[in-house]
Amino acid sequence: MKDLLKLKTSLSEDIENILNAQVKVEAHSSALYLAMSSWCDDQGLDNSATFFATQADEERIHMLKIFNFINNRGGRAVSPEITNIPVDFESFRGVFEQALEQEMFVTEQFNNIADKCMKAKDFVTFNFLQWFLEEQVEEEYVARRILELFDVIGEEGTGRWEIDKHLVKVTFDGE
Ligand code: FEO
Repeated sequence: MKDLLKLKTSLSEDIENILNAQVKVEAHSSALYLAMSSWCDDQGLDNSATFFATQADEERIHMLKIFNFINNRGGRAVSPEITNIPVDFESFRGVFEQALEQEMFVTEQFNNIADKCMKAKDFVTFNFLQWFLEEQVEEEYVARRILELFDVIGEEGTGRWEIDKHLVKVTFDGE
């Protein structure tokens, strides 16, 4: 009976599995950014703490978008188990470097999923992915721009607090 019901969805098991894997990646990003937020807060870097708390919320929204899509297509979304979230980070700059690396990893994942959808001729999911691919341009842009502040301002003296003050002005207008 279960198999018969499964036949009624156009979402293949392969695509369902890679989408569930991405649900886990987004949940991991959310938990990682929350950890970064806490570390920044502990360091007295209040704007950075708020920045990462907002990022954590956004990643949870990303996770739920994919989660709901799987269920809406007749698949079974899996609530992921998240482990290995760090408590400590080596440096202020290191936190943002890790954030950029995480976003570049996420972009690569979405590119891979899009590639698999193309090959499987699953254009419904391929179309759904476009929003995420566009979102990644912004996510990488913001992380890169903030990292530039470390080079421009420098961390010496009151530099860390200057960087923390200026990063709220980093926005992406898509032009
Ligand atoms: Fe959901 Fe920042 O990627």
